[in-house]
Amino acid sequence: MGGSERWERLWTGVGLATMTDPSLGTIPDGAIATRGDRIAWVGRADALPANQEQLADEVHRCEGVWLTPGLIDCHTHIVFGGDRAGDFRRRLRGESYAEIARSGGGIASTVRATRAATTEELVADAARRAADLSAWGVTTLEIKSGYGLELESELRMLEAAARVADHLPLDVAPTLLAAHALPPEYVGRRDEYLRLVIDEIIPEAARQRLATAVDVFCEEIAFSAPEAVRILQAGAAAGLHGRIHADQLSDCGGGQVAASVGARSADHLEFLAEEGVRAMAAGEVCAVLLPGAAYTLGADRRPPVAALRKSGVRIAVASDANPGSSPITHFGAILNMACILFGLTPEEALLGATTHAARVLALDDRGTLQVGMRADFALWRVKELTELCYWVGSSPLASLVKDGRPVRSVRQSDAP
Ligand code: NIG
Ligand code: FE
Repeated sequence: MGGSERWERLWTGVGLATMTDPSLGTIPDGAIATRGDRIAWVGRADALPANQEQLADEVHRCEGVWLTPGLIDCHTHIVFGGDRAGDFRRRLRGESYAEIARSGGGIASTVRATRAATTEELVADAARRAADLSAWGVTTLEIKSGYGLELESELRMLEAAARVADHLPLDVAPTLLAAHALPPEYVGRRDEYLRLVIDEIIPEAARQRLATAVDVFCEEIAFSAPEAVRILQAGAAAGLHGRIHADQLSDCGGGQVAASVGARSADHLEFLAEEGVRAMAAGEVCAVLLPGAAYTLGADRRPPVAALRKSGVRIAVASDANPGSSPITHFGAILNMACILFGLTPEEALLGATTHAARVLALDDRGTLQVGMRADFALWRVKELTELCYWVGSSPLASLVKDGRPVRSVRQSDAP
């Protein structure tokens, strides 16, 4: 580096997890420098010239800290009204998620509460949930709509999702999930609702640039595989990436649907069959595992992790934070469950919340620590990275860096 290229900030004395290989690309005695919102240098501290004070405007000498890319939660539903404590009680008494949904509870009850909430209420509540995730090192957050199920309410949810980023040091990737459930007013008129989603909601969300992806809940209680294909094709035609809630409660062929339309990911996958795994591998579809939902619903099935691994499917891990099936905003608990419930290694869980999650969201400027990537980091007060998956307690986050700038680690009480 020449004198004119002085760095803005330099961190030394940190362990680095660059996330560039299956062992996390670790550099135990590392250093990382930024210029503007980008990583300008990354490597072993002993490769730095001796005159460290002159290398950057601001030098952070650390000790006992590991530094990872900011975590990426690539599947959440944190914009919603009301709560589902009533469903929780019903499930504890033995009713299933599907039975509750069929009797007008479940997603439909959250739709009623969301439609009734003001946009300000939706933003404030979602920002509090996002603050929990931020306190766990999340700097990029996907948020889905799907509790509006009509043009105006779906767009309002996406606007609320975007506004969460005004309050916190994170980026929001908004996903349109208008095909989350058949709205009650369309019972008996499925095709009319599909036409509304395909002809109006998807094009309008794309035109207003309120979403970068389209998602669909493919399940007996929601939309069939052929219907999911239509939704995702309409999304692709509008320039939106494809996502699918697939094979969560039954084998609906969701993995094959995702591959057939070139979707970025298929999510949940407890009932994914061998054929689905093969299709996902061939189509380079990422698997997004959501252990919070399997835990909350007491699922007795697990996604076929060994088969996914063997066939080279990229595995991401996300919170699925939502009021019904995963009322969890503690990202450390999610990493822990990915290991304990689904059998991922800590390395797989951490790659799943960084580089693989970035791929799911088609954000190729983040998820690894490499020169030119966005300077979003989490600094952790841990002796080894395994601890991020091991403790289920208060967050070991020491500090956050977003777009090259150190930001205060936000706690729930700081949210609006
Ligand atoms: O990812 N499976 C469908 N959608 C959500 C649940 C939403 C809800 O129950 O409110 C999920 O688990
Ligand atoms: Fe979900």
